[in-house]
Amino acid sequence: MAKLWGGRFSKNTNELVDAFNASISFDKRLYHEDIRGSMAHARMLAQCGIISKKDAQAIVKGLQGILKDIEAGKFDFATDLEDIHMNIEARLTERIGAAGARLHTARSRNDQVALDMHMYVKREVVEIAELLLKFEQALLTVAGAHTKTLMPGYTHLQRAQPITFCHHLLAYFNMLQRDFRRLLSAWDGADMMPLGAGAIAGTTFPIDRFQVAKELNFTVVYPNSMDAVSDRDYILDFLNFAATLMMHLSRFSEEMCLWSSTEFGFIELDDAFATGSSMMPQKKNPDIAELVRGKTGRVYGHLLAMLTTLKGLPLTYNKDLQEDKEGLFDAIDTVKFSLAVYADMLTTMTVNVDRMAAAVHQDFSNATDLADYLVRKGLPFRQAHEVVGKSVAYAIKKHKFLVDMTLAEYKKFSPLFDKDLLTALDPEHCVAARISYGGPAFAENKKQLASGKKILAAQAKSLAQLQEQI
Ligand code: ARG
Repeated sequence: MAKLWGGRFSKNTNELVDAFNASISFDKRLYHEDIRGSMAHARMLAQCGIISKKDAQAIVKGLQGILKDIEAGKFDFATDLEDIHMNIEARLTERIGAAGARLHTARSRNDQVALDMHMYVKREVVEIAELLLKFEQALLTVAGAHTKTLMPGYTHLQRAQPITFCHHLLAYFNMLQRDFRRLLSAWDGADMMPLGAGAIAGTTFPIDRFQVAKELNFTVVYPNSMDAVSDRDYILDFLNFAATLMMHLSRFSEEMCLWSSTEFGFIELDDAFATGSSMMPQKKNPDIAELVRGKTGRVYGHLLAMLTTLKGLPLTYNKDLQEDKEGLFDAIDTVKFSLAVYADMLTTMTVNVDRMAAAVHQDFSNATDLADYLVRKGLPFRQAHEVVGKSVAYAIKKHKFLVDMTLAEYKKFSPLFDKDLLTALDPEHCVAARISYGGPAFAENKKQLASGKKILAAQAKSLAQLQEQI
């Protein structure tokens, strides 16, 4: 097919060059944005008297037909037409003749692709925000069902202090809340309208960029044409969001793998969310958690690749910028899949409350509470730490836990120990007493759950606002 830019060339492009240069295999997913953007551009050109109203109508109608064909799978994407922009424009001119050939007035593919990508990111941000909310909701639901489920909290993967499963899940809820904020900041970066920047230096035609922005629901118009065609910050913002979210999911995945092991036995995944082994009949594997953990590296890679692509680029458009797509698309697909599958995996898993409780009763995670007990009796914390440390060493030697030691044994380490020490050692009491703001006390967790619900409601409201602006 003849190239839309073929005028100054006297030879056909080498086949390998066509194949290497083409982006149609992946940028065809921008067809909807490309068509919507072109319609807005055509209407604006007519409004400003740059093309006739009749031409604009023919363009819009022709584009509607192309949209239908693409959605019906009847559009043949051609590699030698390079990208989605030229595929659609060439087909339009084929259909409607000269009017189609006027569409590209006062426009370059440089600002066109930028427009498509901004619109696409905005649409995907909304879909991802919906999934993120659903996942946060799932976390809150499971957390709410486990305000009294005791488990050991870990530092260095060693049992540290008693907490509740609710508290543990709420930690992830807090991370995701920050992810939501980061997602909104990617939206802000994408909510800027680049069309009208032309190839680099605007246009000699009397266009109205603000009309296009209004029709396409953009809040801001890029105030500098060179920035408009070369800015990819909003993609970096999105990839930064995606990488951080995946990091959070990956940490959670690591815990899901640990918890579902026989050694921990804290949870059991629903059969629908686990997989088996082709050789070992007994196996039930947490493949989904492992895959989310594994895919995290790929998403990190996309962030780094984009940063690297951009670092040496002189202003303004360079073909390197075509490399902004595959990584972004893959990150979007990965994040969406991970969030969707994770929410359901979470709500369907069985929490082995007894295993968690047993773990917290048969260990030394109540040692800090015993030291705090002595502090309340007047001993400075450093000395209390020493006394309890010695008691722990003694208990280990005698193959006992702290609750199993007699008062007489305790008295050998400090005269301050009394009968009431058993209450101090009870894990339920240990948790209930951790009333500091942000701590795992039952009452405190209830407050955190309530504020979590409010946060979710506020997020749903901002999501509804975004939905209006895509
Ligand atoms: N396919 C190109 C991209 O994704 C579109 C812009 C091409 N512009 C150009 N001057 N070659 O970046």
